[in-house]
Amino acid sequence: MKRYAVFGHPVLHSLSPKIHQAFAKQSGIAMDYLAIECAPGDFPGTLSSFARSGGDGGNVTLPHKQRAAELCNLLSARAKRAGAVNTLIKHGTGWLGDNTDGAGLVRDLTGRHGLDLRGRRTLMLGAGGAARGVAPALLDAGIGDLFVVNRDPQKADALADLLGEPERVHSRYFDDIETLGEFELIINATSATRHGSLPTLPMSLVGPRTAAVDLSYGEAAIPFLAWARAAGAREAIDGLGMLIEQAAESFFLWHGVRPDTDPVYAELQARHAALVTGD
Ligand code: ATR
Repeated sequence: MKRYAVFGHPVLHSLSPKIHQAFAKQSGIAMDYLAIECAPGDFPGTLSSFARSGGDGGNVTLPHKQRAAELCNLLSARAKRAGAVNTLIKHGTGWLGDNTDGAGLVRDLTGRHGLDLRGRRTLMLGAGGAARGVAPALLDAGIGDLFVVNRDPQKADALADLLGEPERVHSRYFDDIETLGEFELIINATSATRHGSLPTLPMSLVGPRTAAVDLSYGEAAIPFLAWARAAGAREAIDGLGMLIEQAAESFFLWHGVRPDTDPVYAELQARHAALVTGD
């Protein structure tokens, strides 16, 4: 039986095993998919012993995505551009690293939610691993100007530089956020609700066409999406669909089969709504 795993810290709450088992059942593929908890210092050793013991592939989640990119012996172009890996594919005795986060987000927004991303003036809140993972795919999907705002302005500058499109990508200070005008797409890629709370955002960022997207799901997504709804955003979308679509992209890379994500999304969305309301 083929063996897969997701590596993270913490990872025991991860929905990835459930999602991949559902895809495998649907496709008639026999496989094992574990959640492997490891602290940052243990990640390289854990990953190489997983490879030695016959592991066929893996997913990588917080906080290991950037370290994973350094540990792979080959990287896809999009993993290189993001500087982060969320999917490991067996390659000889080591790993080929890919990043399906951006493709997953774009597929969720355009496919499931029917958004036309082309030309959208976009605001990215945050410039860490999550922002780096999705920004290239958003640019490739044809968004308009991209403004990156981050608490630490040097990281916003570094992300803007890395994206290499100075005409289109601009970094700005949180202090100047009042002056930025209206956006048609606002992505919350900060981990603010996990580490404190998001700085106050002006309602002037939101217009009648705005789609607001939080890359987290469940309780972590509530404050930003509640703000967006109160400000009049047309759509307020959490990261559950992205999570399922990035998993589907990984599944396709491993097995050559594209799973039907809709039933998995419906089941997890119902379960998460129930958890959030305490049912
Ligand atoms: P991830 O992989 O989830 O992006 P990360 O690389 O640690 O994790 O990045 C976290 C992001 O959330 C960063 O952009 C961080 O801002 P700083 O670079 O200034 O630290 C942002 N962030 C975390 N807590 C925040 C808060 N309370 N307010 C605003 N931004 C916050």
